[in-house]
Amino acid sequence: MIALRTERLTLRPLVETDAEAYAAMRYHPEVAKWLSPADDEPLRAARASIGRFAASWQERRYAPWGVFRQGTLIGHGGLNFVPEFGETEVLWALHPDAWGHGYATEVARVALAYGFDDLGLERIFAITLPDNTASQAVMKRLGLTYRRRVTYKGFTDIVWFDTNREIWKAGAMPNSSVAS
Ligand SMILES: CC(C)(COP(=O)(O)OP(=O)(O)OC[C@H]1O[C@@H](n2cnc3c(N)ncnc32)[C@H](O)[C@@H]1OP(=O)(O)O)[C@@H](O)C(=O)NCCC(=O)NCCS
Repeated sequence: MIALRTERLTLRPLVETDAEAYAAMRYHPEVAKWLSPADDEPLRAARASIGRFAASWQERRYAPWGVFRQGTLIGHGGLNFVPEFGETEVLWALHPDAWGHGYATEVARVALAYGFDDLGLERIFAITLPDNTASQAVMKRLGLTYRRRVTYKGFTDIVWFDTNREIWKAGAMPNSSVAS
């Protein structure tokens, strides 16, 4: 499992004791409305996600990180394997108190660097609902390109952006260091 520090944030795998703070972020109404619905009550769903992420760290060497600002959990972000597409996405979600500071973009840049440089991935995508303009703004800031609409989990109009290693390497200047 990899932990990283960016200029302003610490990224580390989530653990069981993060579950309450993670649930408060992930199932905040302004966050949850853009994400897959919980199939359980928030705390149990948060624990289940943390367990899935831990398994993915073991199996693939990546999963979304918990995002911490001065020790407080403010979001999640990073790489996530999506079986429905057989590929890896970069994703992000922040507690509304942490919007508007560039944190999602900061985390995602590190995730792309990790995916292309350390894991050797060829392509990384990002998907969202068509009216999630905040998330699409992050995708554009990262240099991802809109490609098409896809169907995902019953939604037929999901927008798909992606980039590949070659394009990313031509434009990216990640600012991060491996902490452990
Ligand atoms: C999607 C989401 C993470 C975007 O958050 P965000 O704060 O807008 O995105 P960033 O962290 O990249 O911040 C960019 C904003 O910070 C501003 N900003 C302020 N200081 C900054 C800095 N030092 N560096 C960069 N940007 C900065 C930018 O101008 C920009 O604001 P603008 O869009 O009004 O121009 C957030 O809306 C969210 O969590 N939504 C709910 C969950 C969700 O939709 N997740 C994605 C599902 S696909």
